[in-house]
Amino acid sequence: MDLTHRPRRLRQDRIRGLVSETSLEPTDFIAPIFVDATTDERIPIESMPGHERVPVGESVARVEEVLETGVEAVMLFGIPESKDPEGTRAWVEDGVIQDATRRITAKTDAYVITDVCLCEYTDHGHCGPLEEELRGEGDHDHDSACEHDPALTVDNDATLESLERIAVSHAEAGADMVAPSGMMDGMVAAIRGALDDAGYQEVPITSYAAKYESAFYGPFRDAADGAPSFGNRRHYQMDPANAREAMREVRLDAEQGADVLMVKPALPYLDVVRDVRRAFDQPVAAYNVSGEYAMIHAAAEKGWLDLEEAALESLLSIKRAGADLILTYFAEDVAQRLG
Ligand code: PBG
Repeated sequence: MDLTHRPRRLRQDRIRGLVSETSLEPTDFIAPIFVDATTDERIPIESMPGHERVPVGESVARVEEVLETGVEAVMLFGIPESKDPEGTRAWVEDGVIQDATRRITAKTDAYVITDVCLCEYTDHGHCGPLEEELRGEGDHDHDSACEHDPALTVDNDATLESLERIAVSHAEAGADMVAPSGMMDGMVAAIRGALDDAGYQEVPITSYAAKYESAFYGPFRDAADGAPSFGNRRHYQMDPANAREAMREVRLDAEQGADVLMVKPALPYLDVVRDVRRAFDQPVAAYNVSGEYAMIHAAAEKGWLDLEEAALESLLSIKRAGADLILTYFAEDVAQRLG
């Protein structure tokens, strides 16, 4: 055969590293951590093997485990001691995230990012106060949440005020960065204004700019106890059918001052990661969510694929698509393997 082009020449072992286009570093990763104010012991999360809810008293130890692997950043999610219709435990000074953040920033060099959302703090599990409650029409019997009209939705503008309080309370506790994940219109501008007014001009915002209403959040909702008790989140999270809309969402957040633009989930939305990378100059983050983690573990448990290889390939693909930062439950395992 007279072949001029033989791409296989560059696939020989000794040259692969030289021609590889993408590489992963432990510093690309952000490790999600669940801090639980309702427990004194670490509780394994069944659907997310290797992950636990940790009590506030263990939060420093947990972060030190992450740092040992070479990962430098953590994202904190909180499970409060009690919930109510407005989610008031989300912004109190002695709240679970505020407490854990103070401890972690006092004792470690970890870069601490906090989740700014209400779904773990409201008793109905939605990402903000409901319109009904605010109109005074709620029966306030939240044990019978199924009586809520499934079309009932979150009051956008009232939620913004809560998000402002949460973000400022996290910054006061020492958070390095805040990450609003509730998909409320105007959330980045509201939080930027509140942080600036409180003197936290230097605290950046990672916005979950394009967050889809996804089936892949299942294990997280068990882990963080944040499943909606009725209805779903399609009135505020995005329709998986839409990619142009994602660009509009991302543009709005960029205009409002988002420092980092996140796409979530990651693997089913690599087209969106790529589009955002090409259209914006800000760093792009992608969230390799709980379901993406759980399905690889489940298949590996059955012996149907190799856990480590599948994890590495997933993260490499997310990076190749254009993500600079990757939030992933594989952070520690893959960082260890890289290191
Ligand atoms: C909501 C939030 C969710 C996740 C992170 N923040 C879930 C949701 O919208 O129900 C999911 C993350 C994951 O699945 O790993 N504040």
